[in-house]
Amino acid sequence: MCGIVGYIGHRDASTVLIKGLKRLEYRGYDSAGIALINGELAYRKGKGKVANLERVLKNDSLSGKLGIGHTRWATHGEPNDINSHPHLSESGNVAVVHNGIIENYTTLKKQLTERGRVFQSQTDTEVVCQLIEEIYHSSPNITFEQAIRLALKQIVGTYGLAIIHKEIPDTIFIARKGSPLLLGIGDNEMFIASDASPIVEYTKRVVYLDDGEIAIVTKNSYRVKTIDDVPLTKEVHELAISLDAIEKAGYPHFMLKEIFEQPRSISDCMRGRINPENGTVLLGGIEDIIDKLVNARRIIIAACGTSWHSALVGEYLFEQLAKTPVEVEYASEFRYRDPLIGKGDVLLVISQSGETADTLAALREARNKGALVLGICNVVGSTIARETDAGVYTHAGPEIGVASTKAFTAQVIVLIMMALELGQRKGILTRQKMKEYIIELSRIPSKVEYILEHIDEEIKNLAALFTYAPNFLYLGRSYNFPVALEGALKLKEISYIHAEGYPAAEMKHGPIALIDEMMPVVVIAATDHTNDKMISNIEEVKARKGRIISIMNDDNPEVKKLSEFCISIPSTLDCFSPLLTVIPLQLLSYYIAVNRGCNVDQPRNLAKSVTVE
Ligand code: F6R
Repeated sequence: MCGIVGYIGHRDASTVLIKGLKRLEYRGYDSAGIALINGELAYRKGKGKVANLERVLKNDSLSGKLGIGHTRWATHGEPNDINSHPHLSESGNVAVVHNGIIENYTTLKKQLTERGRVFQSQTDTEVVCQLIEEIYHSSPNITFEQAIRLALKQIVGTYGLAIIHKEIPDTIFIARKGSPLLLGIGDNEMFIASDASPIVEYTKRVVYLDDGEIAIVTKNSYRVKTIDDVPLTKEVHELAISLDAIEKAGYPHFMLKEIFEQPRSISDCMRGRINPENGTVLLGGIEDIIDKLVNARRIIIAACGTSWHSALVGEYLFEQLAKTPVEVEYASEFRYRDPLIGKGDVLLVISQSGETADTLAALREARNKGALVLGICNVVGSTIARETDAGVYTHAGPEIGVASTKAFTAQVIVLIMMALELGQRKGILTRQKMKEYIIELSRIPSKVEYILEHIDEEIKNLAALFTYAPNFLYLGRSYNFPVALEGALKLKEISYIHAEGYPAAEMKHGPIALIDEMMPVVVIAATDHTNDKMISNIEEVKARKGRIISIMNDDNPEVKKLSEFCISIPSTLDCFSPLLTVIPLQLLSYYIAVNRGCNVDQPRNLAKSVTVE
């Protein structure tokens, strides 16, 4: 949420910052701005996307070799020009870009106003630059760096910050608490960003800032220290992502590219981890703690949004394949009910970005209470990945479309592999059973490929018919109940159509009242062991004249007979079925959103990495 960039070196800073902001735009697109020092401290900023800012800069350019930039997802203060970042101190000497929330900003603002400071915006961020400047001016002996550290001690909340001062034209100051920041080390140049995507084009050497740390960055040096001035030696990491992975590669949208990447992302996720010949799974990331996982009393899985849906699939998987009790929690609710969790329990958090504030908070709560904390993340080196005791990366590659697609299937693959490994170690799955599962698992990428090749046109036609439907209902049972939730979420978030997902039988307890001849009902009828019950549910919809769209296996004549539209997909084991059934639903929401003229990759009000609670 909100993207931050910074540059210092020999290139034109404006160009580097704008390019970086475009790559970070998935984090928020309410407004964009940059500030540069070139003798003077100058800035351009305004409501809307980075493209608007770029247009402004064409007529009114800024030049310089040092600067900071920001793309905003609004929290405090409506998205308008004044509330756009960078924010400047009263003198105009200090500029700040911020990602996070300053929780005590009203108190600080009141105190600063009483002391005569005049504020321009409604944002919490402006407090930061005003406070730093006030402290800096309060004593002739204080350095700017000291002023920043003192100000940060007064701030309650979360921040990723990049700060510049007109009279210190060779330095960018950055600080982190709760919002990600990394530093890219180039050759006589340094890059700062909220994630690696703006950096990877220039350098692969990065330093991740941790909470409570600040860094003082010049073009050929960086010093990292704690907020209490204790110097730190930080590890330099090598980025594994490539530039190709963060570009559209000819697709009109990142979301479509990411949907079509799934045969590969699923294979990448399994590579080197499953062995169909001898029926084994080996997940290096959890090898050291595997005995604790085997002996766990229960697993609690916490996540948000799409990752929460994969957590629900995980519940079915762990209970069926490994006979381990599982509870699934909304990460945002977990810590507010003083959860009963402790030694002997495992909290498994799932997060594509590895930065979701609520998921991170759940992790910290469980760790403080003595639980073993494991993670499934996509972004390597992300905060959640670093704070968990152990974990498994999904290796799905960068996901840039705001609506999560390939991250979901990769998360489910990891959950399957974990459940299988656990089932095997607990002696629940025989070697023969393991082989059968793994052989079928290794066929999933080609089945996904088959679906993508064969149903794309069909789904486009279906999308054309239902583009202007005001509501949609999604029904599923067992493993496909979470897929019903996921299908509904995909549709509402990118096409703004109201949609609900339900366990098919639960429909009778209320939502059935919504069904009439106008209501499209997407039925995910591809789970063998609930087929008969599902057929009864479809009959119930049909009796009320609902328009039935079934996602089903090729050989299901009963479902076919009852449905107005059928999307046939290859069959697989019930427990792997979400990996296939979700694909038509992703495409359906995509094509409906495109038909409605929605901005698929950047839906309104959303941001990809939700770093506020
Ligand atoms: C939906 C979507 C969100 C995320 C949620 C969690 O398409 O993308 O619901 O799934 O914000 O994000 P992560 O997985 O990064 O923790």
